[in-house]
Amino acid sequence: MIISSHSQLNLFPTEVANNQALTSVQLKTARSGTFTDNMKLPIHRWFRYSAGFSADWVKQLIEHKSKTRHLNLLDPFAGCGTTLLAAQASQVSCTGFETHPFVYKIAHVKLLYWRIEASVLWQTSEKLIELAKKQLKPTQRLHIPLLNKCYTPENLAKLDALRNAYFELSQNDDPIKEMIWLAITAILRSCSTAGTAQWQYVLPNKKKAKVLEPFIAFQEKIALMVSDIVYVQQNQWGKNASVLLKDARQPQFEPTELFDLVITSPPYPNNYDYADATRLEMTFWGEISGWKDLQTTVRQYLIRSCSQHSAAERLELDKILQDQILQPIKAELSNACQTLAEIRLTKGGKKTYHTMVAAYFQDLGKVFYSLRTLCKADSTLCFVIGDAAPYGVYLPVEKWLGQLALAVGFKSFSFEKLRDRNTKWKNRKHTVPLHEGRLWIEG
Ligand SMILES: C[S@@+](CC[C@H](N)C(=O)[O-])C[C@H]1O[C@@H](n2cnc3c(N)ncnc32)[C@H](O)[C@@H]1O
Repeated sequence: MIISSHSQLNLFPTEVANNQALTSVQLKTARSGTFTDNMKLPIHRWFRYSAGFSADWVKQLIEHKSKTRHLNLLDPFAGCGTTLLAAQASQVSCTGFETHPFVYKIAHVKLLYWRIEASVLWQTSEKLIELAKKQLKPTQRLHIPLLNKCYTPENLAKLDALRNAYFELSQNDDPIKEMIWLAITAILRSCSTAGTAQWQYVLPNKKKAKVLEPFIAFQEKIALMVSDIVYVQQNQWGKNASVLLKDARQPQFEPTELFDLVITSPPYPNNYDYADATRLEMTFWGEISGWKDLQTTVRQYLIRSCSQHSAAERLELDKILQDQILQPIKAELSNACQTLAEIRLTKGGKKTYHTMVAAYFQDLGKVFYSLRTLCKADSTLCFVIGDAAPYGVYLPVEKWLGQLALAVGFKSFSFEKLRDRNTKWKNRKHTVPLHEGRLWIEG
């Protein structure tokens, strides 16, 4: 069923362009309730990233820490920019690394808000939609299997018309054009008939009850972006945050000032495939032609936290375990990996968790090594992290990460448990209790 919500469009654009004060008050009132959900927060809500953490908590931590010292903040796994935006709201300078090219672009565009004139964004979007409607024709892309599974021909035709109109916009690196890119990207799942829980893998066999009409969804998204830009500009969010397309294991980056505080959440060793998570969006934009392309375009750049990784790279367990960086946890890690290597032979899928787990901790060891060179001697690091149990083999993730951090020169670590977790290992059942929390590293 295609649904629309014209009524929401009535708020824009004239109120935003001509009566910014009123809009701002309305917006503040709308947001005065709970702030725990990022999807209710300005700019954060432009793109749902379920791998992200709470912006509200980050902001509180920044404000608490900035009472006693000047802060220069780093998020080496920036994702969609939660830490960066929270730092902007608190006027604290912040740098982020993100090496997933598509996710990086989303964070980058979100941070452009201070360079945008809201009324120009609205006017450009109106011209774009006019052009898209004029050029609307049957889609030529139904032969692409994922698009075929996810869209009705009508919706794909409209999305393609928006995409073609976007390509016709003039300057390539114009921030307005980049915002338009984000608005189209952000409606792709809500306009799909497939079960596409936001930011999860696509589930074409599950049909959604509510499917948005693309032109309306686009206008609503732009309206939301316009109102948020007005809000944050009036509330004088900072301009000092930037996200860099860099690998946290080896960022090759020299900050002008070392970092005081790191707030981050790395991938967990739980087989979540960050590359696959953007398959629909990257397919739509023509950046990949199928699942196979994900390894070369995305996965090879990421922390090796899923078995697709280790399978594609044909890793050798012994070789990884010999790495000096793993020395502090070598005995326990080797045990776990050997157990996984044996269990694997009894399983149909024969997943390469044994090499994935070794490679994961090797990667995180490298991250701590580079963080040691980037952080001040009295810095604090906060890693939101969860433990894992592939094939039921328990991995004490926070303990091993803490030990890797001590080995490169950090002084102490402690763990603050936030919640118990049930496992989400795909097609695997085990009863190992898991948890998630904050790993605090000092020094
Ligand atoms: C748990 S998510 C972080 C989400 C973030 N806290 C937020 O709220 O948006 C982990 C992120 O690390 C990124 N990542 C994976 N490997 C990386 C690497 N080697 N360097 C930098 N980022 C990486 C992933 O693409 C993913 O976006």
